[in-house]
Amino acid sequence: MTLPADLLAHARAAKGFMPEDEGALLHRWALERLPHGPALEVGTYCGKSAVWLGGAARETGGTVFTVDHHRGSEENQAGWEHHDTTLVDAEAGVMDTLPTFRRTIAAAGLEDQVVAVVGRSETVSRWWRTPLSLLFIDGGHGVEPARADFRGWPQWVVPGGVLLVHDVFPDPADGGRPPYEEIYLPALASGAFTEVDVVGSMRVLRRTSGAAGDPVAD
Ligand SMILES: C[S@@+](CC[C@H](N)C(=O)[O-])C[C@H]1O[C@@H](n2cnc3c(N)ncnc32)[C@H](O)[C@@H]1O
Repeated sequence: MTLPADLLAHARAAKGFMPEDEGALLHRWALERLPHGPALEVGTYCGKSAVWLGGAARETGGTVFTVDHHRGSEENQAGWEHHDTTLVDAEAGVMDTLPTFRRTIAAAGLEDQVVAVVGRSETVSRWWRTPLSLLFIDGGHGVEPARADFRGWPQWVVPGGVLLVHDVFPDPADGGRPPYEEIYLPALASGAFTEVDVVGSMRVLRRTSGAAGDPVAD
């Protein structure tokens, strides 16, 4: 099943970094997994990928948590490639994607399905205890944030659940390495995950050993 036309229009209109074929992959896997428990996204930005996930939650009666401090990644800051001046809080002089995210999700009618968790991923994961049917990591793409996301989140995926990682580039000519080196490779090396799907830079790994909460170590 594809994303309903009304939501597809909202996904297309939202600011963000989610090509349509990869968004459709997210939606497909969320449809399969959400009946078994909540999903969590690391890296909300303005809610583009959350519309794809939230559409599946609307169809299945599921819930999607989405974590972001809403201050932008390194590459979103002034002077960097992905800086968007319309996302700067003029008073504070810093990035704030939360208002745009809220408008995206409200316009899409997904406020009951998509729950924003506002804070640093490392802080939220330290206190998180809920098993996840689907985990989508698309947060900070530097070495440290990617490493922290690997340490903090994949352990909460239930057996049979899936970990999706965005911007996985085995060839350095295609893009930055941390999602590949610090999340994708360690997840496979841990023996807890097995690759089951690929579209573009998105990788889908299924949890094939261990229980939610068991450490996942490379
Ligand atoms: C690539 S964008 C997410 C794109 C989004 N998934 C989409 O489809 O449009 C990465 C996001 O991660 C957030 N981020 C980066 N490091 C973070 C951290 N340590 N904790 C929380 N959020 C973080 C940034 O604020 C940014 O909004």
